[in-house]
Amino acid sequence: MSEETLEKLLVDELKDLYSAENQITKALPKLVKAATSPELKKAFESHLEETKGQIERLEKIFEILEKSPKGKTCNGMKGVLEEGSEVMEDYENPQVRDAALITAAQRVEHYEMAGYGGVRTYAELLGQTEIARLLQETLEEEKAADEKLNSISRRVNSEAMKAA
Ligand SMILES: [Fe+2]
Repeated sequence: MSEETLEKLLVDELKDLYSAENQITKALPKLVKAATSPELKKAFESHLEETKGQIERLEKIFEILEKSPKGKTCNGMKGVLEEGSEVMEDYENPQVRDAALITAAQRVEHYEMAGYGGVRTYAELLGQTEIARLLQETLEEEKAADEKLNSISRRVNSEAMKAA
């Protein structure tokens, strides 16, 4: 059994994030399809592109660490995404469904932000400055995506209010 070090924890958590990002890549096209607001569709589309870049960043990190990114399934993200697809089935009213999709997507962002904030700090403590920098970049993107969803939700939710 390998030692229980902060470095091992960093690798394990990164594997978890790698799994999460790959799951998100598969889920986002479904969100694009399910969304009605053109603004929301566009936000999901651009976050899909961003997510692909985040996966590349993680792959770069695993290269630096000389480890494989594979070997873990992020069950937390699996659950968050499952709930997201449940609301797609539960709500047919387009505006109300958009409101629900935004909340589901923000749960995804917050889950990722918690993970990235953690690994960024481990990397800093371990003196892995390049890795910490790459993780910080992704963290900023996730925060920005969340903020963008916040501002879209103000418009979408007021439309949902009018829904019969
Ligand atoms: Fe992400």
